Amino acid sequence: MTYYFVHPTSIVDDNVEIGEGTKVWHFCHIQSGARIGKNCSFGQNVNVSNNVIVGNSVKIQNNVSIYEGVELGDYVFCGPSCVFTNDLTPRAKYPKGHANYKKTIVEVGASIGANATVLCNHTIGKWALIGAGAVVTSNVPAHALMLGVPAKRTGWVCECGELLQKNLICLKCGRKYKKTENGLEEVK
Ligand SMILES: CC(C)(COP(=O)(O)OP(=O)(O)OC[C@H]1O[C@@H](n2cnc3c(N)ncnc32)[C@H](O)[C@@H]1OP(=O)(O)O)[C@@H](O)C(=O)NCCC(=O)NCCS
Ligand SMILES: [Zn+2]
Repeated sequence: MTYYFVHPTSIVDDNVEIGEGTKVWHFCHIQSGARIGKNCSFGQNVNVSNNVIVGNSVKIQNNVSIYEGVELGDYVFCGPSCVFTNDLTPRAKYPKGHANYKKTIVEVGASIGANATVLCNHTIGKWALIGAGAVVTSNVPAHALMLGVPAKRTGWVCECGELLQKNLICLKCGRKYKKTENGLEEVK
């Protein structure tokens, strides 16, 4: 028996998987085919569309829609009212249909700031931090701090959330990093 919590104001469609310890708060809608991991938290007014995959220990703040085509890894944080997309050139008259939705992958530990917009067909690398209000229009390297419209990399961020100095050693937790093709990688 899996124990998770769904507030009575929320609707969970048939054929949905929700992991142990996950909490779905007020006025949410989890649509058919969604697969949600353990120990996640869904704030007020969150929509999880059909067939969306959400990892473990993911936190979604209020007013977020996770559209079909979006995949969230473990420990992803979605700030309040951040926006995903799955069609770059939408037309009401010429809908493209499920098969043509574009993907958005958010890798383990990445955080998306309040009111940020993520254009589809991109990957946000692990432990990246998207600033409040940014518009992501490119792939994001691991541990990148991305700010502005369009979002540009302005720095690097530690797994713990601290902004890193030039030497890539975290002043808060002591983790050390090196640069790679895809952003930063921890040096153990
Ligand atoms: C980017 C962030 C991590 C702070 O980084 P920081 O480097 O410590 O920021 P500072 O406050 O020192 O500001 C540095 C510069 O970045 C600018 N800046 C800060 N946040 C910004 C943002 N989201 N977008 C664009 N510019 C931003 C500041 O205006 C400042 O510019 P200036 O040097 O021209 O004056 C933070 O502002 C942010 O956006 N965090 C996300 C918060 C959030 O959405 N949380 C959701 C859960 S509540
Ligand atoms: Zn750190």
